[in-house]
Amino acid sequence: MSKPFVLAHLSDPHLGPLPRPGVRELASKRLLGYINWRRSRHRRHRRDALDAIAHDVHSRQPDHVAVTGDLVNIALPAEFAHARRWLETLGRPADVSVVPGNHDAYVAAAARHRDCHWSPYMAGDAPEGANSCGGFPYLRRRGPVALIGVSTAIATPPFMATGKVGEEQIARIARMLADLRAENLFRVIMIHHPPLPSAGHKCLIDAVAFQRVLAATGAELVIHGHDHVHSLVWIAGDGGRIPVIGVPSASAAAITKQCAGAYNLYFIGGGPGAWSCEVVSRGLRSSGAVAELNRFALPV
Ligand SMILES: [Fe+2]
Ligand SMILES: [Fe+2]
Repeated sequence: MSKPFVLAHLSDPHLGPLPRPGVRELASKRLLGYINWRRSRHRRHRRDALDAIAHDVHSRQPDHVAVTGDLVNIALPAEFAHARRWLETLGRPADVSVVPGNHDAYVAAAARHRDCHWSPYMAGDAPEGANSCGGFPYLRRRGPVALIGVSTAIATPPFMATGKVGEEQIARIARMLADLRAENLFRVIMIHHPPLPSAGHKCLIDAVAFQRVLAATGAELVIHGHDHVHSLVWIAGDGGRIPVIGVPSASAAAITKQCAGAYNLYFIGGGPGAWSCEVVSRGLRSSGAVAELNRFALPV
């Protein structure tokens, strides 16, 4: 039996500390985010917690690492450069795939800095033709796995953290998934917002349209962040079911009531028509050590 492909999934590092913003940089939604960070979030998202998680990821020697967004906090230009240096500690651009989250699009100007610093980590194997979706969705083939990077990152008004895939990107995803089905690859969708219909201030606005595509074309796995909790939901997919799996923030200190920092490993084996996928969750204990939290086989 051949060795399974190992995909590590972490999300929402919310890298700190925040650089000191200029007065002009705070003349926007950033002011609220900055106050929020200084008041409480800096205690929740800790570099020592993130370093422990990243160290554990390295020790497992995954074949690939997926990072599903919210690398920064209020989208200051210096945060994107800082996040790029952190990504380089995680791995080469060919081995690490990133999709942006709402904090990476905190203000409209963020997209320019994000693309400038992170584009090698958000690029497909083949250069995408010009499109208005900022190069999304992108496609990376790694062994038996097809990784599809989807962007839900849009700038929103204060107190909103919604996401949107958009009609053009949804149409491209539909074509991509249909083509990949014929290639018999294990299709993994990487997305920041959970693609589940809801009406809250954090929801994915077009989750219904996105799910409609998945119901028609199928996919083997959807991984996401944003909610900062462990989650597993099943949605309809091409005559079967698709697991939609979320992970906590990778930098969440084990000192609050919220989920402590954690990540998932997916051991993908078998082959077309007989895939196997074992999920292993690993996370921070109150001692600061990272240990296995859960292990289960996905019925795929
Ligand atoms: Fe987040
Ligand atoms: Fe988020």
